[in-house]
Amino acid sequence: MRDSKAIAALHALPTAGLLTDPTPVEELTGLRAALGGGPRLLVKRDDAIPFAFGGNKVRKLDVVAAQAYDEGADTLLTVGGVQSNHARATAAAAARLGLRCVLVLSGSPPERPRGNAFLDTLLGAEIAYVSSREERAPAMRAAADRLRAEGRRPFEIPLGASTPLGAMAYARAVAELDPSNAPDAIVHSTSSGGTQSGLIAGCALLGLSTRVVGISADDPAARLKPVIADLLSGIDATLGSGGRVAAAARDAEVDDSFVGEGYGIPSPASREALEVAARCDALFLDPTYTAKAMAGLIAYVRAGRFRADQTVLFWHTGGQVALFV
Ligand SMILES: Cc1ncc(COP(=O)(O)O)c(C=O)c1O
Repeated sequence: MRDSKAIAALHALPTAGLLTDPTPVEELTGLRAALGGGPRLLVKRDDAIPFAFGGNKVRKLDVVAAQAYDEGADTLLTVGGVQSNHARATAAAAARLGLRCVLVLSGSPPERPRGNAFLDTLLGAEIAYVSSREERAPAMRAAADRLRAEGRRPFEIPLGASTPLGAMAYARAVAELDPSNAPDAIVHSTSSGGTQSGLIAGCALLGLSTRVVGISADDPAARLKPVIADLLSGIDATLGSGGRVAAAARDAEVDDSFVGEGYGIPSPASREALEVAARCDALFLDPTYTAKAMAGLIAYVRAGRFRADQTVLFWHTGGQVALFV
């Protein structure tokens, strides 16, 4: 059953206006034919969000940056890798809102910035480099302390904007689907857990029995599932949904068998997925996240894990800027 009160609360969340229209849903007819049939395949085009090259981070930042702005912040800070989509989207949100942006990125300063690194500089972000992932959060905290001491008002955004608020943007996104024709399964890339928690929460609140299958780009399922459960509890507490969203954690499906040799390292299956999606449906994936998720979807279809009378929706989370690195 639909939780109308919680859905209304989601729709009432203040936004920064980064996202104006629902993203399109399209048929993947070419891919389906190439796979020799199987379930109906759809794609939700969050890669086609017009703001700043789009992607899932724009949805999350739409609500998180709005909160920062409403609290009177003058600087957004966040963390990521040198080619982080989230860092680029944060820098873009800051530019749109007239705020400053500090990015703490793990890796070496590129000699000639390309892809997201280039866009970060174009957007005017101040960039600090650290040598490891572990150093990022403490370095962001230290930078925020320094700004506060200078009389500025910093707002720290954790990795991937995967807070209960950021995840709620994805709960709201589920309402963009036609409820009378909801997919049997959503397959998408998962990494910091925010997108997946939001999708699970949205399905629970709308009373949909849609499975949400997150294909990990990075962490083992055993590490990611508790993160998702925590985010779902946070969403539940914020929306006052009486345990319904928190309880949905038991259905969270995380598949870590498509990571291959590691985060950002293409695998034979992800290379195939990248090519097949482009050649069959002119759909561009990215090597780090969505190609691995599509590799998962293709493998599931080939293994007959969906019935021919089912509908599977691939939720494209963006990242295509990485094709130009
Ligand atoms: C293109 C893309 N897809 C998927 C993800 C994973 O989303 P989440 O961090 O919400 O799990 C990311 C995260 O960086 C991303 O950039």
